[in-house]
Amino acid sequence: MKILTITRPDDWHLHVRNNAILRTVLPHTTQQFARAIIMPNLKPPITTVDQALSYREEILQAIPNGENFTPLMTLYLTAATPLAEIKKAAESAHVYAFKLYPAGATTNSDAGVTDIKAIYPLLAELEKQDIPLLIHGEVTREDCDIFDREREFIETSLTQITHNFPNLRIVLEHLTTLEAVKFVEAAGKNMAATITPQHLLYNRNSILTGGIHPHYYCLPILKRERHRQALVAAATSGNPKFFLGTDSAPHLTSLKETSCGCAGCYSAHAAIELYAEAFERAKALDKLEGFASFYGADFYRLPRNTNTITLKRASWTIPLSYGADETRITPLKAGEELTWKLQ
Ligand code: DOR
Ligand code: ZN
Repeated sequence: MKILTITRPDDWHLHVRNNAILRTVLPHTTQQFARAIIMPNLKPPITTVDQALSYREEILQAIPNGENFTPLMTLYLTAATPLAEIKKAAESAHVYAFKLYPAGATTNSDAGVTDIKAIYPLLAELEKQDIPLLIHGEVTREDCDIFDREREFIETSLTQITHNFPNLRIVLEHLTTLEAVKFVEAAGKNMAATITPQHLLYNRNSILTGGIHPHYYCLPILKRERHRQALVAAATSGNPKFFLGTDSAPHLTSLKETSCGCAGCYSAHAAIELYAEAFERAKALDKLEGFASFYGADFYRLPRNTNTITLKRASWTIPLSYGADETRITPLKAGEELTWKLQ
């Protein structure tokens, strides 16, 4: 196959930040995706509808001329979120979900939730208002090994959440383990999941062999090869519970290549090509369109896109970095070849 045309995809998990970084990264997303679920973990976090609306305006201003792109806003759930804010979000035309970060789990998660049981009244309201809850599913207990944090979250928190709130629509974000795949498969129709390109293409050796490679460090952290294989099987299965969410998370190169580097892989520069590579290796390119363009829209109850994008089989080298000096970002697979190119 030399040409691959699919319905225009959407990115159901994306960090675009603000200010100069936003202007550097957003064009990469808008050239391929029609819509994206925008993560709210800014400094300070986006916790109110009014903040989300002004952040949305900033994003709209950064869309390159002639591009059609719709940012789908989310709010950062905290123990202090008023029930009234959830009602207001439900009435807003631009807020599509709430994001639950366990406190300390990842970048800018300090304002996150420390005791999940304490926010059950908020989860009940989300269920009542029928707003999806997006979950960063990792425990943050210091005595829990970093490679076990997702599995432990499923056992100690997520099972109870799904039991107590059966009608709450949940997206377990950025799956990284076989256990997470099994959990989502076995759960009811209200449970879905996103999968990133890095978790389909790499295992934990990429971070730690031959030296420390900070550009493969993200959270949840890359796992063993058998987990990567389970994720590839899920993504290419045609099961509509699994859909595309890049978790593209730009950090300045200077803040990744340092003694305490930030968590996050930047993948927006070549997101659909990276997924195409993973699907082709699994001999499942025919399953890419459902994963990238249909199942997420269906879960969020939004219309599927009607236009298309075309990828061509053509080898190209990913640049070593993007952005000017003060916004320099090192992309995933920097300096390496890709076999598919967006036209
Ligand atoms: O690696 C990550 N980076 N994981 C997250 O959950 C957040 C993200 C970020 O915002 O940098
Ligand atoms: Zn994320």
